[in-house]
Amino acid sequence: MPLSLPLDAERYHPDPQEPVDRWFQTASASNVRTTMEVVSDIVGPSCSAVVDPFAGGGSSATAARLMNLPFFGIEIDPVLACVSLAKSRATVGHARMLRRLPPIRDLKSLLSVLAMLPVCGSADEVTVASCLAIVLALRASRGTPLGYEEVAGDLARHRPPAATGRLVCADATAPAGWRALQVPKEGAVLYTSPQFGRRSPLLGAPPQLTASARDILAAAHADYGRETTLEEAGFTATTVATLRQSAMMMQRATVVIEHEPDDDGHDATEEVLEQAAAALPGRVYDARVITCGQFTWRGPLSLIVFDLR
Ligand SMILES: C[S@@+](CC[C@H](N)C(=O)[O-])C[C@H]1O[C@@H](n2cnc3c(N)ncnc32)[C@H](O)[C@@H]1O
Repeated sequence: MPLSLPLDAERYHPDPQEPVDRWFQTASASNVRTTMEVVSDIVGPSCSAVVDPFAGGGSSATAARLMNLPFFGIEIDPVLACVSLAKSRATVGHARMLRRLPPIRDLKSLLSVLAMLPVCGSADEVTVASCLAIVLALRASRGTPLGYEEVAGDLARHRPPAATGRLVCADATAPAGWRALQVPKEGAVLYTSPQFGRRSPLLGAPPQLTASARDILAAAHADYGRETTLEEAGFTATTVATLRQSAMMMQRATVVIEHEPDDDGHDATEEVLEQAAAALPGRVYDARVITCGQFTWRGPLSLIVFDLR
């Protein structure tokens, strides 16, 4: 019997005013406050970390930070991986590092800033500031530049980043990224929103921006490459392959997977649960589907929820 979680359209769609999260939101981003409520309703105060293997533009990274929880993310797109990393780790100090350098108005100015940054701080500070630079360049490339003052103002009001957590650019269905991620063995929530279908909009960032993002992640040893593409595999196969990898790394976790029907209206909730139980024998408990309402042309949003033990 599906449970239902009352949600209205405003609380489902990303909030364009949400500090930090507003820097860049993907077309299929989740609402940060809703993610926080779902985690608190379903997992409660015992939650010790948020793991999102389809991290996208970092709405769950922002939610984790607001909940004072470490964030462990995987994202296959290098530009989005940088956006998520910036949202989870940037501080006013990183914004100040950029403020001292020429403004990022286009890809050419991004390249000069990235060339100057390495002498401005430690390797870790340079990685985070470089990811913040990618966010600014991405916004500039879309004709909606983001000012340092807005970034610094958001960060001044934000919680400090959690001491642990990691973000890697990798294929979540393959082991390399998971090995590097070092997720907690117990107590985390795996909260994620895999690509719903082939017609889900992809980021489509300029190739030079993607190449710069890849260089930053490679220098930070956070690039584990791409082995398959989601378009080839489909929602169920990708989700189940990802769960299989996560289950090798996590002994106990609460799993929450956002689901919308695919491009042809196919609902995969039961299929995901059946195949997850078959792929992880004896490890899937209290499986349920929570139907939340319809917010896009695809059909109702559901949460596939279970305990991984
Ligand atoms: C529905 S979006 C996630 C939206 C996210 N909650 C946000 O705030 O932007 C799905 C994401 O999964 C990424 N992705 C697709 N296939 C992947 C894979 N095999 N491994 C890791 N990430 C993948 C896409 O690049 C996309 O950013």
